[in-house]
Amino acid sequence: MSGSGSGSGSGRAASRTAVLVCQGRAAAHGRAATDHFADPVAVGLLRVAERETVDDVRAKIPPEGRQERLAYESVRACAEVVVPRTVAIDEALRARMTGQLVILGAGLDTRAWRLPGLAGTDVWEVDHPASQQDKRARLAEAAPARRGPDKDGPVAAGPAAVARSVRFTPVDFAVDDLGAALDAAGHDPSAPTTWLWEGVVPYLTRDEVRATVAALAARTVPGSALVVNYQAPSARAAAGRLLARVLGGSVTSGEPWRSLWRPRRMAALLAEYGLRVVSDDDLLALAQTLGSPARRWTSLRSGRVAVAESR
Ligand SMILES: C[S@@+](CC[C@H](N)C(=O)[O-])C[C@H]1O[C@@H](n2cnc3c(N)ncnc32)[C@H](O)[C@@H]1O
Repeated sequence: MSGSGSGSGSGRAASRTAVLVCQGRAAAHGRAATDHFADPVAVGLLRVAERETVDDVRAKIPPEGRQERLAYESVRACAEVVVPRTVAIDEALRARMTGQLVILGAGLDTRAWRLPGLAGTDVWEVDHPASQQDKRARLAEAAPARRGPDKDGPVAAGPAAVARSVRFTPVDFAVDDLGAALDAAGHDPSAPTTWLWEGVVPYLTRDEVRATVAALAARTVPGSALVVNYQAPSARAAAGRLLARVLGGSVTSGEPWRSLWRPRRMAALLAEYGLRVVSDDDLLALAQTLGSPARRWTSLRSGRVAVAESR
C-alpha cells in the first residue's frame, strides 16, 4: 500500500465515528439482510474492547455498566443504519465501476479488501491524517505481514486487498488541497473516476462540503460518478441526539455534525459542478426493501444515499 499527499496532521485524534461504523458492520455481518449484506473484513480491524461490544450486540446481551451499555446501544443503532447504507453504496459502485475509485473520508472502509469487482480498480483512500494513520496501524495488526498487490509499498501487512492497488492519501478537507494530494498520489484526472463520500458530509461545514465538491469536480470527466451519503435535517433526529447528550454523552460526541442537506439543496450544489443526481434514496426505504431491522426509523429516514453522474 502506498501513502502520499501532504496531510496537515492538525493534531486531532483519529475518528471514533469511523470505529463505530466499522463496529456496526461487524455486528451486522451474518445477522442482518444476509442475502445482500456482508462485511467479513470489518471485525479484523477492531481492537479487543471494540470487538467485545460487537460480540455483545451479536449475542443480544446488553452489558452491565453505564459506559458499556452506551457503547452497546451505539453499535446496535449503528448496525441498523450501516446495513442499508452499505448495500445501496455497494450496488451503486458495482454499476459504475471505473478504473479509479476515490473514497473520501474512508475511515475503516473495507471495500478495497472485500469487493471482488474492484480487482481492476485502483483505490485512493483519502482521509484525515490521524484517522488514516490509525487505519494503517489496524491493518498492520490485523494479520501477519506479507506482500500485497500494492504498487510501491515495500511490504503490505493485514488482510489482502482485492483492489488492484490501495493508495493512502492523507487530507484534511478543512485545510488541505485535495487536488494536489491526489496528483501526488497518482490519480489521473483525465480518466473516469468513481467517487465515494460516505458518512463524512455531516462532519463538514457547508463551505467545506462545497470546496470538496469543487475539488473533485475539477478532476471529474464524463463517465465519472459520485456516490454520496448525507443527512437531511430532521427535528426528531436532532431531539434524539440532544437527549443522548443530556443522558450521558455519546461515544461520538467529539465529532459534532456541522451540515445537513435537503435533497433539493444537495442536487443543486452538485448540478452547479456538472454532476446530475440520478437517484437519491432514504435509508428507511432501503432498510424496508431489505427487511433489515428498522427500529431507528428517524435516523434511517434522514440518512440518504445519492448517486450523481457526469456526462
Ligand atoms: C463516520 S466516519 C465514516 C468513515 C467511512 N466513510 C465509513 O462510512 O465507514 C467519518 C470519517 O470522516 C473523516 N473526516 C471527518 N472530517 C474530516 C476532515 N476535515 N478531513 C478529512 N476527513 C475527515 C474522519 O476521519 C472519518 O474517517
